[in-house]
Amino acid sequence: MNRDNIITLPNPSLREKSQRVHVITEDVLKLIEDMEAATIDWESSRQHEVGVALAAVQVDKLYRVVIVRNDFNNKDDKGFQAFINPEIVKYEGEIEEDFEGCLSVKDVYGKVPRHTKVRVKALGVDGKEIRLKAEGFLARVFQHEIDHTNGKLFVDHIKDSPEAFHKLGESGKIEELSDEQREEIFSILW
Ligand code: NI
Repeated sequence: MNRDNIITLPNPSLREKSQRVHVITEDVLKLIEDMEAATIDWESSRQHEVGVALAAVQVDKLYRVVIVRNDFNNKDDKGFQAFINPEIVKYEGEIEEDFEGCLSVKDVYGKVPRHTKVRVKALGVDGKEIRLKAEGFLARVFQHEIDHTNGKLFVDHIKDSPEAFHKLGESGKIEELSDEQREEIFSILW
């Protein structure tokens, strides 16, 4: 797979719930490989962004599979960890607003409220249970990706806060939207 396999809004698949993986077959492992390749290829076409994570629904495969980059700050580390049937078992910490974007919501960034800490349960590619505590940006990433497996996008959290919507400027900075731009974007999102 490559970046052309990544679907974007208004593709209706993005708002569908993904199904659980019952057996980790060769097809599931191939899917994970494909997701990694698509994310890295997407990143190679984006000057200012890092492909930090992806959910299988974003390549139009409705399985509860998520990949998360090993190192968010180092584009040279192209490794990912896969999480199968991931779920948040506990929300902790505070609620904090920060910017996030999504490979399936082109050029739009939003200030989204999320919990600062979560506990996550999933299966690894070896079928063994993974339990972890995530904080800060990683906690945000897990909330965003697990939302994808439930057919929810970050823009859906801020639907009623038009001022939370921003765009990525050409210089790589997050910029405010004009009313016109906002209207145009909203017509694509819903
Ligand atoms: Ni996303």
